[in-house]
Amino acid sequence: MKDQELIALADKARAMAYAPYSNYRVGAALLTGSGKVYTGVNVENASYGLAICAERTAAVKAVSAGEREFVAIAVVTDNGGSPCGACRQVLAEFGPKLRIILADSAGKSREYSMSELLPDS
Ligand code: THU
Repeated sequence: MKDQELIALADKARAMAYAPYSNYRVGAALLTGSGKVYTGVNVENASYGLAICAERTAAVKAVSAGEREFVAIAVVTDNGGSPCGACRQVLAEFGPKLRIILADSAGKSREYSMSELLPDS
């Protein structure tokens, strides 16, 4: 799967983000070792601290479907924002060699390795 396809899937998923409190909508598309893609969005709550990020939504969907190897993840936001520390830790569990592709809503993207985002894990 091409990076642009993964970004497009993340962007499409982003439409389902539930972010009425922050208005910061996030979509993720996670490619696993089996070749399947699992999408995720951020899901907020009236109790603000309970918000779940798009990356962890995708990760738990994949693992609960039996996946154990994360290959690449595309994350789309308005400004190309980077995953939070909690998501980095969860992604590293199943993707020590994960490629992380961050894109903004204009289509501009950049890539990091897991070890760049979470060194010495
Ligand atoms: N959020 C994500 O879903 N992923 C990130 O990488 C950063 C933050 C969500 C959490 C919350 O719903 C909103 O974005 C604002 O922080």
